[in-house]
Amino acid sequence: RRVLVVNGPNLNLLGTREPGVYGSDTYDDVVALCHESGAEKGLDVEVMQSNHEGALVDAIQAAAGTADGIVINPAAYTHTSVAIADALRAVGLPVVEVHLSNVHSREAFRHHSYVSAHALAVIAGAGIRGYRYAIDVLATGFTAD
Ligand code: DQA
Repeated sequence: RRVLVVNGPNLNLLGTREPGVYGSDTYDDVVALCHESGAEKGLDVEVMQSNHEGALVDAIQAAAGTADGIVINPAAYTHTSVAIADALRAVGLPVVEVHLSNVHSREAFRHHSYVSAHALAVIAGAGIRGYRYAIDVLATGFTAD
């Protein structure tokens, strides 16, 4: 089974970006953690990041027929992008939404997500471990298939 992990804008700056909010782990740490978590579950994990909404839509579309599930941290696009939510709906794969921070304890504009209505699970506030939990949720679903 294959899992695509999609990361939105500014997540490439993890580690230096507002460490008080997002922690000191880097984007490379996220990539390594995803590969490690996938390997533990016997999953092939691909991780990508883009600052561009269209590139994220392209990556989600390309997952159709090549991946069995998607983990996504859409970052700021969580709160703005109908296009990303539509792409997820279009490919119809199981989706787990991840946020490093607890978006619900932050500004009101972070409380709404266009993606959540289409997600199997939403993990927020667990830091980069959230990606591990998300992969675990997908892996559990695959075993039930
Ligand atoms: C985030 C939360 C978003 O509100 C924010 O725009 C991000 C990161 C998180 O992982 O906590 O860029 O998705």
